[in-house]
Amino acid sequence: MLKKFFRKKDNGPRPEEDFVLWKAGGGEAQPEEESKTEALKMFNLPVSPKALAGHGKIIAVQGAVGGDGATTVAVNLAGLLALSNPERVVLMDLDGYGAVRSRMGLPAGECLVNILDWEDIYGPKDMARGLLNHSSGIMAVPGVIHYDQVEKVTPALVLKMLTLLKESHDYIVLDCPPAGINNNTWVASLVADIILTVFRPDRASIDLLQENNGFMHRLGCQDRVNAVLNQAGIPGGIRPGDLESRLGVNIIGILPYSPGVAEANNRRQIIVHARQRDDFTRAMQALADRMTA
Ligand SMILES: Nc1ncnc2c1ncn2[C@@H]1O[C@H](COP(=O)(O)OP(=O)(O)OP(=O)(O)O)[C@@H](O)[C@H]1O
Ligand SMILES: [Mg+2]
Repeated sequence: MLKKFFRKKDNGPRPEEDFVLWKAGGGEAQPEEESKTEALKMFNLPVSPKALAGHGKIIAVQGAVGGDGATTVAVNLAGLLALSNPERVVLMDLDGYGAVRSRMGLPAGECLVNILDWEDIYGPKDMARGLLNHSSGIMAVPGVIHYDQVEKVTPALVLKMLTLLKESHDYIVLDCPPAGINNNTWVASLVADIILTVFRPDRASIDLLQENNGFMHRLGCQDRVNAVLNQAGIPGGIRPGDLESRLGVNIIGILPYSPGVAEANNRRQIIVHARQRDDFTRAMQALADRMTA
């Protein structure tokens, strides 16, 4: 399947039998869907998690708006999953240079492993080259080395990586930027088993959460989207009790505001490993339990 889907060079249109039609549940295309499926064939576009073989669970974490805590949730979720699945959990930074480098002590000056290493990885035996075996037990794919390389992280590259990693690892956690901007969050969402949209009890975040939901709906991903309220209880924030009834989203986790989070982040620590009694750690554990259930 991989051979068909990803080629080193795209030499234009190929014979009909060469196309891979990604369609949840498989089966023949219905006549009334012909124009849609023609479009999908053109791009070989996976349309659901079932389109990728493999046992791994892909969890895409995005913020409703920048700064909501997507990286914090992604890193700590991967950290908790890695406790019981060391070296079986991949944390992939899809947010450009990304904060994963800062959080995990992998600044570009010290760690050259990066997502573009995957451009010429085509099979399991090469994958170790593109994965950083972090002391936490997480297998990290840090972001690009320089900002101006971000455009090289294409949907095709992301889908190739996810196809390979889903066959080789148990959990693939994606630190995504907010969807809808010029980035790959949409493509990750198409194939993610679970999409976590992190938002804050903050008016702008909640307004963008509605827009995010609409976008996910248009992508056909709405059934896999779950919202995570982060920084609950932050002074001045909207109270959780005032939120839930009006949002129209499934809130799967509530993570408290905790100064310990920023402290750990600034020390390049993973708080769920460094402070097991922190309220944030306990709430993250409950969220991680939902992911493994
Ligand atoms: N529950 C929390 N309690 C306290 N501070 C938090 C909490 N969650 C995140 N923060 C802080 O909020 C800031 C933003 O968090 P983070 O970088 O994870 O957000 P993001 O959505 O990934 O942002 P970006 O859009 O820049 O990628 C960081 O300084 C982080 O330490
Ligand atoms: Mg981030």
